[in-house]
Amino acid sequence: MMQNSDSVDQEQNLRVRKLEISDKGKGFIELLQQLSVCDSVSDKEFQDRFNEVSSLGDDHIICVVEDELRGRIIATGSIFIEKKFLRNCGKVGHIEDVVVDSSARGKQLGKKVIKFLTDHARSMGCYKVILDCSLENKAFYEKCGFKQKEVQMAMYFV
Ligand SMILES: CC(C)(COP(=O)(O)OP(=O)(O)OC[C@H]1O[C@@H](n2cnc3c(N)ncnc32)[C@H](O)[C@@H]1OP(=O)(O)O)[C@@H](O)C(=O)NCCC(=O)NCCS
Repeated sequence: MMQNSDSVDQEQNLRVRKLEISDKGKGFIELLQQLSVCDSVSDKEFQDRFNEVSSLGDDHIICVVEDELRGRIIATGSIFIEKKFLRNCGKVGHIEDVVVDSSARGKQLGKKVIKFLTDHARSMGCYKVILDCSLENKAFYEKCGFKQKEVQMAMYFV
């Protein structure tokens, strides 16, 4: 089992933890909308997707940072653990959907989210963690300990 537990910054009233069902009411979807296309999600759709992700247990974790004073989600990121045959049936962590609220950037919250996710990958026995990012964010991920490798390819169906 993974070792991650909530981490609290008492001074700033910030809690770094896994996504909870009540986070929809704390601005989680609005935060994702700062990253990419994310139409409004109904409560039922949210609950169904939350249950689906939860059923994957430690193989799919969504991390959030809550500003507990305001009851708002101000940063998030997710990780999916891929199981391979390569590398002695090794595991790889895939990080996705990292975003910090525009009013809270530059305060090390992005770094906190990445640490939570990479700690999780390490505790799950992954031999590496990978992600795609824009050139503008390359320096941020380098500060988090990542190195540029290869080329990103994509095929969109919609
Ligand atoms: C990219 C993003 C997640 C960074 O989060 P953040 O909380 O502002 O970053 P942090 O404060 O944790 O920064 C950590 C370090 O990276 C540096 N950094 C952050 N963004 C940077 C950038 N775009 N270029 C260069 N350095 C950057 C910070 O200066 C800081 O350096 P330090 O440790 O020496 O002080 C945030 O800006 C964001 O949400 N952007 C919009 C959405 C997005 O592009 N997400 C990434 C998808 S791949």
